[in-house]
Amino acid sequence: MRIIIASDHAGYELKENLKKAFADRFDFEDGGTFSEDSVDYPDFAHPLSERVAANEFPYGILICGTGNGMAMCANKHRDIRAGLCWHPDIAKLVRQHNNANILVMPARFISEQTAVEIMEAFFCTDFEGGRHQRRIDKINI
Ligand code: RB5
Repeated sequence: MRIIIASDHAGYELKENLKKAFADRFDFEDGGTFSEDSVDYPDFAHPLSERVAANEFPYGILICGTGNGMAMCANKHRDIRAGLCWHPDIAKLVRQHNNANILVMPARFISEQTAVEIMEAFFCTDFEGGRHQRRIDKINI
């Protein structure tokens, strides 16, 4: 599966490690950043979200220090459902219930192992539909 991943400086190291950990499972498009030099998270969240919303990629991954800045930016985009995940069970539920198309992770608050488990949960879980479809149909304004 081809997916897009991006981070700011706070998420750079985790982004690089996740690309290596999942190199055999995903064809990653790297939307930056490309070093630990300080950058502004909206400059990475918005381009990635536009590309996911345009169906260029089925899913995206955004990583910053807390995850909140990335999630706030991504969720400004119509048809983007970005979920901030700090535990594998939340990643599972954000797919089952919210049909999330962007996984957001807080690099400063989770270990690399937890991030791997979150990615496993997110990408191995399908949307349940049913009553959840009705709810996500009400998200766009
Ligand atoms: C960068 O210091 C930090 O503010 C950013 O990574 C993120 O946590 C913002 O929400």
